[in-house]
Amino acid sequence: MSDVRFDGRVALVTGAGGGIGRAHAKTLAARGAKVVVNDYGVSIRNEVQSGDRAQAVVDEITAANGVAVANRGSVASQEDVAAMVQQAIDTFGRIDIVVNNAGINASDPIQEEPGPAYAAHMAVHLEGQLMTMRAAWPHMARQGYGRFVNTSSAAALGFVQPDGTWYGSYAIAKAGVLAATRQAAGAGAPLGIKANAILPLAISRMVTPLIPGTNVLEYMERFTTAEHVALGACLLAAQECPVSGQAFSISGGRVARVFFASPLGFADPELTPEKVRDNWELVVGSQNADHLLEETYEAVDNAFEYALLQKAGIGAEAKL
Ligand SMILES: NC(=O)c1ccc[n+]([C@@H]2O[C@H](COP(=O)([O-])OP(=O)(O)OC[C@H]3O[C@@H](n4cnc5c(N)ncnc54)[C@H](O)[C@@H]3O)[C@@H](O)[C@H]2O)c1
Repeated sequence: MSDVRFDGRVALVTGAGGGIGRAHAKTLAARGAKVVVNDYGVSIRNEVQSGDRAQAVVDEITAANGVAVANRGSVASQEDVAAMVQQAIDTFGRIDIVVNNAGINASDPIQEEPGPAYAAHMAVHLEGQLMTMRAAWPHMARQGYGRFVNTSSAAALGFVQPDGTWYGSYAIAKAGVLAATRQAAGAGAPLGIKANAILPLAISRMVTPLIPGTNVLEYMERFTTAEHVALGACLLAAQECPVSGQAFSISGGRVARVFFASPLGFADPELTPEKVRDNWELVVGSQNADHLLEETYEAVDNAFEYALLQKAGIGAEAKL
């Protein structure tokens, strides 16, 4: 079998000055891509730091005979985003891949937002990923080819801190990334543009302060590297990417699709609250202690609701 390669391809990786983004940039470059290494150089709490994180990674790539150029803009600025895409075009002549990775983590408790952290999270995690997609889109549409690898998080599924705090904007923005990816995949399908999302898990400066001194931290340090995430995500950025509009949990060498699903449920045209209560097991679906569900259906798009409604016997004969 041939290797997964990126010869002739140009990638923009955001937030690539460290952590998972650095691993994405180095992996793509090692496999032949020319890479715009973007990093705004901020701390996880979004304070601007000194030092040139992007250039340091460019130096690593060029030392390994790869091709890369640094960009120090912010994904939260429309002007900067336009400039980073233009830099790819001006320097390397095209843009084929955007890995939307830049991130911060300074949420407030859900019941206290929105404060400044809320706006920053929406700007970096959600608007940032949307803006890079919009900026690269016309170039990709023109060439009939593009790949987006967006970064969501398992935090979108529910995320509590060891101290019992439930943060808001980080999880909310990361959930929005899933919908944005889905929509971009639909719009991109006739244009040769594919968009997928990853839910990574890797030891990085972003996670260490969240779980100090815990078994989880020790586990992550031993088993979950940024390189694992980059290697797992690589195929999604490649020409042979087999899917679009999907999300993948990637960590420690495990890659698995994450999707919305639904049991057949309970359906009755003469519904009452009492019937809902008395049929609750059907509503939630049967599952074992590992949450292994029996008889569930993937929620492939919004039409899944009609399909399951009819399967459950409601207006089964109607043509939709
Ligand atoms: N590490 C994990 O386990 C984990 C889990 C779920 C999701 N994620 C997501 O993965 C991505 C990478 O996280 P990481 O753990 O490598 O964190 P990290 O803090 O090591 O790296 C994030 C990088 O993004 C850069 N950045 C921040 N704001 C920026 C902006 N406005 N413009 C450009 N660059 C900016 C930072 O300077 C930093 O270099 C993030 O989107 C994060 O939310 C990480």
